[in-house]
Amino acid sequence: MISPNTIQQITNRIDIIDVVGEFVKLKKRGTNYLGLCPFHNEKTPSFTVSPAKEIYKCFGCGKSGNTIGFVMEHEKCSYVEALRWLAARYNIEVEETETSPEQKLQQQTADSLYAINHFAQRFFSEQLFEGSEGQTIAMSYLKERGFRNEVLQKFQVGYNPEARDTLTRALLTNQFSREVLPKTGLVSVRNEELVDNYRGRIIFPIHGITGKIIGFGARVIGKSDRGPKYINTPENEIYTKSKILYGAYFARMAIDKADECLLVEGYTDVVSLHQAGIENVVASGGTSLTTDQLRLIKKYTNNLTIIYDGDSAGVKAALRGLDMALEESLNVRLVLIPDNEDPDSYVNKVGTRAFNEFVAASKKDFIIFQLEVMLKEAGNDVTKKSDVVNQVAETLSKISRAEDFTKQQDYIRQCSSLLRIDESGLTNLVNKYKRDRITKEEKRAAGQEQAALPPQEFQGQPEDVLDETQLLLQQDEAHERNLLRVLLDYGLRDWDDTQKMADHIFEELQDFHFENQQLEKLFEEYRSWYQRGLEPTTRTLLYHEDEQIRQAVVNISVVPFELSQNWDEVMEMKIVGVDNSRQDVSSSVNFFKLQKIKKLIEQNQRDMEHASYDDFKMLHEVHNHLKQLETSITNQMHTVIIK
Ligand code: CTP
Ligand code: MN
Repeated sequence: MISPNTIQQITNRIDIIDVVGEFVKLKKRGTNYLGLCPFHNEKTPSFTVSPAKEIYKCFGCGKSGNTIGFVMEHEKCSYVEALRWLAARYNIEVEETETSPEQKLQQQTADSLYAINHFAQRFFSEQLFEGSEGQTIAMSYLKERGFRNEVLQKFQVGYNPEARDTLTRALLTNQFSREVLPKTGLVSVRNEELVDNYRGRIIFPIHGITGKIIGFGARVIGKSDRGPKYINTPENEIYTKSKILYGAYFARMAIDKADECLLVEGYTDVVSLHQAGIENVVASGGTSLTTDQLRLIKKYTNNLTIIYDGDSAGVKAALRGLDMALEESLNVRLVLIPDNEDPDSYVNKVGTRAFNEFVAASKKDFIIFQLEVMLKEAGNDVTKKSDVVNQVAETLSKISRAEDFTKQQDYIRQCSSLLRIDESGLTNLVNKYKRDRITKEEKRAAGQEQAALPPQEFQGQPEDVLDETQLLLQQDEAHERNLLRVLLDYGLRDWDDTQKMADHIFEELQDFHFENQQLEKLFEEYRSWYQRGLEPTTRTLLYHEDEQIRQAVVNISVVPFELSQNWDEVMEMKIVGVDNSRQDVSSSVNFFKLQKIKKLIEQNQRDMEHASYDDFKMLHEVHNHLKQLETSITNQMHTVIIK
């Protein structure tokens, strides 16, 4: 780990204009800077950088963050990698904290694995391009399949000779550790002797996202039945299959540019498409996509196009678990290559242009594709068909982000027409699944909280309750964000002779809780820093090690608040040049509480409608009590306004 001291030095030295300015041409506009967004294509600049707040925000694509976040996003790297990048840029020496013996050992093993792989790759390439066996056996096969030198060199393809230990001997001569070697999968132990594992195979090195070699895929030559077609690197300190997409290192720029990622099954598909000039392509290795792989794709684009051969078992594998892609707002399309061809053979057969045209013309939305497959399987069976309807509704209910609403409507229209059912019927069913899930999530959340809020029950409520609740939630969130804003801005100032503003806020909010978990987390983290005598501020929390906290701070700083009219009234009272912080805190606390109380009153009223007589009496008392609270807060606010 990087020491806190180094992180401190880095954050002190960072100049957001300087860092962002390295990649984006910025022009000064008032107190901010403006430029063309590096994260999406645009002609008029909507990318703003605020040096005072040390954040950037694009009003076109919505991306925002701090300096470290910018480096992470732009360089597609981790938090620690971004820190190292910045340290290098500002000539700050990176001090590592003490690591445990296990961590040290793991780091050493990882370093050796990289070194061995690096050596082996060069060895294999030399064998392929300069060895006589490599030329006669491997290169001739690759040439016959249409691969040219240029692309083979780019992907660093190689060859491992037939003899039992050519590579092993080279590795041992070069002093690589006997203990670590078997972990690479390059060699194996036979009768206590080390021998080559990939004998007589063509080698495809697999590059990590920084370009270092993390593993290999080794293919037999031709249609040999000597062992499996491919042997792949076993899981080790640097190779985790579920996190790897073959070719990602070479494809990232092209994916960014095309705003689309093509996914194929095999190593040879990736290499062939590159040779044909189609570079936004990665391979899954034929298994179903994992969450980590989808996240990797989502770093670059929201558009995923899966190109598989039509008969492949891989299609089913790839479709499994893709519901998760919907939740992540990925648009998934599918192209099936006909006639037993795969992308590699097909592009070789028809050429780049026809290949691109075919893909563009036969792209099919994966939800629709899935539905068609299921419908075909169900045939005329009524029970099976109603299962299909339910499955589709459940899938569609997972499109839940507000910005995807139109997309969901589109799907409902298309699916109901394919299913030959009523559109509004499908809408109701989708909403039911959505409600069920929200209820479940809320029950879970309610179980975790001690606060005395009754759990929300949606069962038996009219259809539009959901929308109302969502609106309410949005209002709620605006007040929650606002409260954190005053806490971050003024928390450390004096409230009165005995208390800081933060103390006052904590005291006032004792019985209330946050709806938004990210904001709640920030609130709790603030409290914990404060109680430990640290100095939580926007400036310091913006560089918190936790991504969620950093994001919450950024959101509070950049998102304009949609608060009620009363709020404007209060804020208009602001007299320029006078410190309004006390009033700002007090109003923010009151609005926050008022909003929560209003919600409680509404909930209580709904409960009263269904209550038995005894319960009703009790609920009515609760109602009176809440109303009193409401009045007292409103009165207090008026006094403030009149003052
Ligand atoms: N695969 C594997 N092990 C196997 C077979 C396949 O790991 N025994 C993975 C490889 O990543 C391979 C992908 O699944 O690239 C697709 O398999 P396949 O279509 O059989 O291979 P191709 O890469 O298309 O090879 P070729 O074109 O040379 O037949
Ligand atoms: Mn193939």
